[in-house]
Amino acid sequence: MVPERGVIYQVMIDRFYDGNQSNDDPFYDSNHRNYRLYWGGDLEGLIDKLDYIKSLGVSMIWVSPLDDNINRMASGSAPYHGYWTRDYKGIEEHFGDWSDFKRLTEEARKRGICVIVDYVPNHAGPATDGEFGSLYDNGTKVTDYYKDAKKARLNPYTGSREAVYHHNGDIKEWRGFQLKYANLYGLADFNQLNPWVDSYLTDGARLFVENGACGFRIDAAKHMDLGWLESFYLRLYSERPLFIYGEYYALSTDRTADLYDFYRYSNVSPLLAIPIRGDMARTFAFLGSLKDLSEELSSYYSLFVYPNKQVNFLDSHDLVRFLNMADRRDKMERFHMALALTMTLPGIPVIYYGDESYLVSRDGKGDPYNRPMMVFNNTTEAARIIRTLAELRKINDALAFGNFRTLYANYSTWAFERTFGAHKLLVTMNKGSPRDLTLNLDWPDGVYRDALYNAEMAVKDGTATLTLQKDGFYVFHIERPQERPLIGSLTPSTARPGQEILIGGAGFGESGRVIVGGREAEVLSWNSTAILVRVPKVETSSAWVNVTVESNGKRSNPAKLRYYSGNDVPALVVINGTNLRGQLWIRGNISELAEPRPLLRSSRGYYFTVVPLPNGTVFSVRLYRGLPWEKLEPLNVTLYGIGGRTVVLTLEPPVCPTTTVVHSPIGTNPVPYIAPAVLLLIVATVVFRRRG
Ligand code: NOJ
Repeated sequence: MVPERGVIYQVMIDRFYDGNQSNDDPFYDSNHRNYRLYWGGDLEGLIDKLDYIKSLGVSMIWVSPLDDNINRMASGSAPYHGYWTRDYKGIEEHFGDWSDFKRLTEEARKRGICVIVDYVPNHAGPATDGEFGSLYDNGTKVTDYYKDAKKARLNPYTGSREAVYHHNGDIKEWRGFQLKYANLYGLADFNQLNPWVDSYLTDGARLFVENGACGFRIDAAKHMDLGWLESFYLRLYSERPLFIYGEYYALSTDRTADLYDFYRYSNVSPLLAIPIRGDMARTFAFLGSLKDLSEELSSYYSLFVYPNKQVNFLDSHDLVRFLNMADRRDKMERFHMALALTMTLPGIPVIYYGDESYLVSRDGKGDPYNRPMMVFNNTTEAARIIRTLAELRKINDALAFGNFRTLYANYSTWAFERTFGAHKLLVTMNKGSPRDLTLNLDWPDGVYRDALYNAEMAVKDGTATLTLQKDGFYVFHIERPQERPLIGSLTPSTARPGQEILIGGAGFGESGRVIVGGREAEVLSWNSTAILVRVPKVETSSAWVNVTVESNGKRSNPAKLRYYSGNDVPALVVINGTNLRGQLWIRGNISELAEPRPLLRSSRGYYFTVVPLPNGTVFSVRLYRGLPWEKLEPLNVTLYGIGGRTVVLTLEPPVCPTTTVVHSPIGTNPVPYIAPAVLLLIVATVVFRRRG
């Protein structure tokens, strides 16, 4: 399915519904008082409640991690949440087994719903508590953190001590090397560049795909090398077009280096819109200007090639639920407004389980109290809002793919428009006293009814007039026939040759051609709103190639596909940089390297990064210096390498793939090295002559 047309329902499996009491023990609290124990929810329970979920109009379920977790308490908690994996090939016995998971995906599919699995490739369980990072491969023990420490070696380039896991302590500095190569809150951090780990994590994820999953929510994306993630995603995408989005935990849009690498240059994965959620919730739960919010949202979305593929949410298992946070008389009205906004902004909305039934905890606010036992009630006003806007999203192309333009904003009133071809959407809201609003609106003359409350808007000669009630939230919309092909999305929007991608949009007609980077793609299926194609091999050294649809003699808008040439392996790319300084970047002459990639500086004097590189291909890169949000300054240095697991870049082009490379230091100026080298030669000659 085209993800932009859908709504995601997020379920924490342990807290949803107990369909099988025989798997409740151990570490189980039948009274649901101790939030750090298992409460009984499982896959059978989720299957039992699929009709309930379907009644909300949603079409995707994001289920919390299902892999087998540690069998001990750690830091006073059982792994009821699922984030402390010990076997990536098995299902946690409290939740069921592979046949239950398969039945879930099959039963969900019958209801037009697909299942997205939360997957945790950054780390296993806690390293120093519980089972001490014990790791199993389909039931057979492989290692644990202490055994692994004995085998760990220093990587000469990155300065990381590593084997299956990294052994570089806990993250203390939340940037650079530590962010990716140290333990996140004491969790055993994987060394994904270890070939065994690389295939183990990939095979583990494949099991979910083979059993019917349609995508993944990737935990802790910011703590893994971007290049490894790219390569991991590409391997999963080769199974079928999946919807994968990453969790990048950052509570604001501050220009920290890592945030910008991810957003501005890579755009390889949709992300959970965590940086803007705080402001959204605050603006409705407490104080805050809708004008400021509108500006922040526009600048956030402008960072992405595909803003409509980012994932919006109001509540989650990591943040305080809105209704636990808001302390005001009109908090229900404000909650409804914030919920409706989440569902109408660019991006795919997530509804956290129980938002439709006003689920809150009386015992506390944040984690773990934001994970109470589910209360089922789909007859509330919140459920009606969710259902109405989820149904509208299926038919209104502007809601799924439209642009985003504020028409009017002040402290308490906001009107924005979204357009996609002949489909339109006008969203208005008002936190203040009732008021009239007049807008310039390029809509045909007429009287329009809003989807939620049947409010009325009159449009005459390009001017709209309407009355906004206090805490009113109105959604006006137009769906007219789409006269020409229009691409709204690619799923996934990154691909290598041979991979299938799903083109979502409108006006595609019955048949036609799809052109990818100038080459015609093989069409696998075609209807007026979705086309499945196989990506051809393209001659390009650019990062992005255009995709266009031709139908009934008309050509669509070009959509951007992040292209990888294929046969990629996650490669550690290294520069001997003893005499280099500052934040450095490389940019190269193959698609994989065409966007600037930031380098990390290691304690060993090298600069490095991880890139999915075509194995055996000779390439060159140029070196740049600069901060991510500035213009990068070229350093006039060209370096060469050949794709492989570890690539040390050299100043001379390699002659053939078997050439031995000399790891000479690379700097902008070789002169400082000439004098010491000559001096050394003279001294050696003198010593040699005297001895002789
Ligand atoms: C982010 C998840 O959302 C959170 O719940 C989890 O504890 C951490 N990642 C660590 O896996």
